[in-house]
Order: sequence, then C-alpha cells, then structure tokens
Amino acid sequence: MHALQGAPVLRKKELVQGRYPMLPDSQIFERTQRKICYYLGVFEKEIADLAKRELLRSILSRASAAGPVVTIQGRRYVNFASNDYLGLANHPEVIRAAGVALEYYGFGSGASRLLGGGTVLHDRLEGHIAGFKRTEAARLFNCGYAANAGVIPSLSSAGDIIYSDELNHASIIDGCRLSRAQTVIYRHGDVAHLEQLMKQRCRGRRIVVSDTVFSMDGDIAPLPDLHYLCRRKGALLYLDDAHGTGVLGKGKGALAHFKIRPEPWMVQMGTFSKACGSFGAFVAGSRDLIDWISNTARSLLFSTALPAAEAAASLAALRIIRNTPGLVTRLWRSRNRIVGDLESLGYETMGSETPIIPVRAASVGDAVRLSRFLFAGGVYAPAIRPPTVREARVRITVSAAHEDRHVEKLLVRMRKWRQER
Ligand SMILES: Cc1ncc(COP(=O)(O)O)c(C=O)c1O
Repeated sequence: MHALQGAPVLRKKELVQGRYPMLPDSQIFERTQRKICYYLGVFEKEIADLAKRELLRSILSRASAAGPVVTIQGRRYVNFASNDYLGLANHPEVIRAAGVALEYYGFGSGASRLLGGGTVLHDRLEGHIAGFKRTEAARLFNCGYAANAGVIPSLSSAGDIIYSDELNHASIIDGCRLSRAQTVIYRHGDVAHLEQLMKQRCRGRRIVVSDTVFSMDGDIAPLPDLHYLCRRKGALLYLDDAHGTGVLGKGKGALAHFKIRPEPWMVQMGTFSKACGSFGAFVAGSRDLIDWISNTARSLLFSTALPAAEAAASLAALRIIRNTPGLVTRLWRSRNRIVGDLESLGYETMGSETPIIPVRAASVGDAVRLSRFLFAGGVYAPAIRPPTVREARVRITVSAAHEDRHVEKLLVRMRKWRQER
C-alpha cells in the first residue's frame, strides 16, 4: 500500500502547524509530506498570482437547459456565451430523437467502435455527414478535441511538416504536438507567408492545417487561397470546420460557403457540439483516408464510442438544418444587426465575419469589467483573456434562438457601458 493511502487529506497550513502527526516513523513519508507541502505552496502562490493579474478563471454552472436565456446562481441571463448557433441544443426534435434512442439502446455504448461500441445509428450519422460534406466517407469522434488530437497525428509523423495558422484552436496545436512532425506556424490568415514558408525542403508529407472560422476572432480563413496553394504544392489540407458547420454555406460549412468542391487531398473535420446542439465530432474525406484514420487515430481506437443517443441527436440536428433554412438566415440577421449596432456605438469587433463577435478591450481588466457589467445587467458574455488569446476581449456569440428582445437587451447594456465611461 502506498504510504499516503488512507492518510488524512493534508493541507499546507495544517502540516506547517503540525496539526497532523507524522504517520509511522518513516523518513520516506516525512519527505513525501514536505514535497506535498511544497507543491501546495506553489499552487497557492500561482493561483494568487493569476487572481492578481485578473487571469483566474472560474466555472459558472447553469441551473437550466441550454438556450438563449439561462439560470445561473438563481438569476436569469440572456446567454451570449454559447456556441449553440442554431438553438438546437434544446430543440424538441433533437430531444425526442435522443430520448427514443436512449430508450432503445440505453445510455453507455460500452466499448470503442472497433469493439462493438457503435450502433447502426453511428453508421447512419457517418453516412449523412459524408453526404452533407460531399465526401466519400466520414468517421465519428467523441468530441472535436479528440478528433484533432487523434487525426492530425494519424496523418503525419517524423519527417513531415505541418503548417499551422497561428490562431488555430488548442486541440489542433495539441494534435500537431502529438504528431512528431515538424510544426511551422504561419501568420494568421497570411497565405503569402505560408507560401514563403513552404519553400523549405520537405522529405515527407506537407499538411496545411487551419480552422475555417477562428473560434475567438470570428473571422474566416482564406480558403480559396489555401486550397489553391495546397493543390500547387501537393499538400494535404486539413480544415477544422467546428464553427463553420451549420453556420456557413447555408449550414453545410466553409467549403460550401466558398463553393469549393472537396477533393481527396482535403480533410474536413467538424463538431456536433456547436451549431448541431449535440455532442461529438466527425472527420470527412475520401474512403481511403477515412479507412486509414479508422486504423490509426488513437483517440478513436482507444476510447469508448459515443452513446447512440448522441448520434440520434446529431442526426435530428442535421435533418433540421437541412429542412429549415430559415434558421441560418435568422442567425445571420441577428448577427448582422449586433455587429452593425456595436460598431456604430464605437466598439471594435476585431474583424469578425461570423456569429462569433469579439469586442476589443483596452486591457485584461477592461475586458473583465465589461463582462461583469453585462452580467450585472442580466447579460452573459464572457471575457476572453491570455493565454487563450493575445489581446483581451469580450466574446459575444449569437444564436438563431435569440429573439429581438434578447438582442435589444445586449445592445442597451453595451450602450450604457459606453455612456458611463
Ligand atoms: C475550432 C475548434 N475546434 C475544436 C474544438 C473542440 O470541439 P469539442 O468542444 O467538440 O471538443 C473547438 C471547441 O471549442 C473549436 O472551437
């Protein structure tokens, strides 16, 4: 048995004050206690330091369903913090589909896809996603993070070069790190810089990786130029369409937005956790590519499959997106109104082109104060600070579920903040 097992939970102060007697006279245990004491001290100091710099994050938990209005700590807030762009997370058809699957298949999937964890619903969803993204095949992953962390290393290894936009999502960065390929960072959205970097000799494969919609900036990657460059250089193009799926191209995503036809050297990754209001992720591409990924992506091979109810919810969400084009239109109408009004109030929306609207703040403290001011007025829009982003901001995300009065409430509060300064 480990020396610490069964021992009381030790707190630094208690240790220092000697409130807990050292357990049986072993020197090793004494040293362990000193180490714990040291580590606790380090954490305490670093947490205090983060708090002093207004960088300490806290987790707010809802006491209500996801939606345009949420209850937090007993109070209702208009919610501009969610990526539920089409308001499907709480859509009756999505809930019903998940409920039916839950009744039939139960909740847990019991094993990885390779060991019988999947169901015919998983297969059906993969077929639908392949159709939606106009590819030969698709594979589900448990979440977007797992997709990027698993697929990027399955497509690259030592000797290859990955070119990654400097503002790519953290899960892409981690996927690149896990791949053992050389990772070369190009300036955000700067295809000329990328081209220059691609002049470097490469013995292996080249892969260009980019978000389609940048999650903290809300701008869109220059896909036509990336596409052209990759074709010319014989590079694989890996696109993370987490925030484009359901939002761009009448819901079909970033490639549809630019009318770019998918080709075998392109990989489209996306999530169900945002505009689809569900959970999980997918990778879509050629049959061979998907077969390769299915045999090599460790986050797929060594992780339990998504519950069937999740697949059912995503299938329902795709059906709604396909059959209700008005949802996407409504999303964009609210988004355009908010951006227009914020800009006329003098706010800088940092080049946003989508329903992700960052509002520039002069400093970390300013971002935190604006977010708190909104919160005090019943509007939830979080401050985003380093290290997530370089420049602090308040991030507003719009949903088709927002009614005009919700948008109005946000704008009134933003106007008031300007007037009070
Ligand atoms: C661009 C991007 N990729 C991947 C992910 C991860 O997706 P998930 O939340 O499904 O793990 C996110 C989520 O925030 C994202 O913004």
